[in-house]
Amino acid sequence: MKVLLTGAAGQLGHALRQRPAVGVELIATSRSGGDGLLALDLADAEACRAAVRDLQPDWVLNAGAYTAVDKAESEGGLAHAVNAGAPQAFAEALAETGGRLLQVSTDFVFNGRQGHPYRPEQPRDPLGVYGASKAAGEEAVAQVLGGSGRGVILRTSWVMGPVGRNFALTMLRLHREKPAIAVVADQVGCPTSTHTLAAACWRAIERTGPEGEAVTPILHWSDAGAASWYDVAVAVGELAEGLGLLERAAAVQPITTADYPTPAQRPSYSLLECTGSRQLLDLPAVHWRQALRQLLEGVT
Ligand SMILES: NC(=O)c1ccc[n+]([C@@H]2O[C@H](COP(=O)([O-])OP(=O)(O)OC[C@H]3O[C@@H](n4cnc5c(N)ncnc54)[C@H](OP(=O)(O)O)[C@@H]3O)[C@@H](O)[C@H]2O)c1
Repeated sequence: MKVLLTGAAGQLGHALRQRPAVGVELIATSRSGGDGLLALDLADAEACRAAVRDLQPDWVLNAGAYTAVDKAESEGGLAHAVNAGAPQAFAEALAETGGRLLQVSTDFVFNGRQGHPYRPEQPRDPLGVYGASKAAGEEAVAQVLGGSGRGVILRTSWVMGPVGRNFALTMLRLHREKPAIAVVADQVGCPTSTHTLAAACWRAIERTGPEGEAVTPILHWSDAGAASWYDVAVAVGELAEGLGLLERAAAVQPITTADYPTPAQRPSYSLLECTGSRQLLDLPAVHWRQALRQLLEGVT
């Protein structure tokens, strides 16, 4: 099975390349290529269509994205080109070639106001430009491939791995550098390790039905439990200290979103209801703290 992977240099892409599913011929791409990766600019819709037509993959695993949530507020055109234009182009080309698309998406397609976990079929209502661009990408995939059952959207949240840019590694650095850190305690979601997320992506691909239909149109995948950013920052300090990555954790001070203004508004409660997806994928729930510990064990 031939899989065209985008975002291969990103944190999820890294984990996907480390343990590909059995029998997969992986064609991994990044924005500028090199290092064994093909060059594919996701802002170039025609290049995305051409890649599918030329390479004829069985699946496109679209893990690449414009992920700078705050910067997206002032770069809306680019965020939409990458996060909505690329999945639309992949879907259109795959509709011609007969391939399938796994589109990785985000809890930020929801507004976070309902106060209990979001189910996959609930309507999207993003707060910021990043969320809106990812929601538009989902809508394009559903519109172009929904009827054929050959498009799968896999939403996840608060992605963190041992390499790349993420909250856990930023906190680890701040614990090392500062005696005290202030972290937002009134935004609740769930961390997801790239390790468990990559396994869920590969399983979603493996679970294609006998007629080639997708396992389900929308999957939700995050690690188990719930946390605020403050909880995660405290856990990083405790776990890193226990693992000998730190001499002494910084004091973590809980603050409110109002104390830490950012260009983009973020959902205050964006837990994803994952029970049904875990059953469909037949994968165990791993508590976020356990997954975070495994992540930190992989930090060199
Ligand atoms: N990170 C999170 O907390 C989070 C939460 C929920 C959902 N997600 C979703 O999960 C998926 C994986 O995210 P991640 O955390 O692995 O993000 P990441 O580490 O930022 O990786 C994204 C990759 O996409 C690449 N990319 C951006 N623009 C591109 C372009 N024009 N052409 C080609 N490649 C481009 C980036 O390359 P450059 O580094 O060169 O820009 C980067 O390597 C994304 O769909 C994201 O929306 C992430």
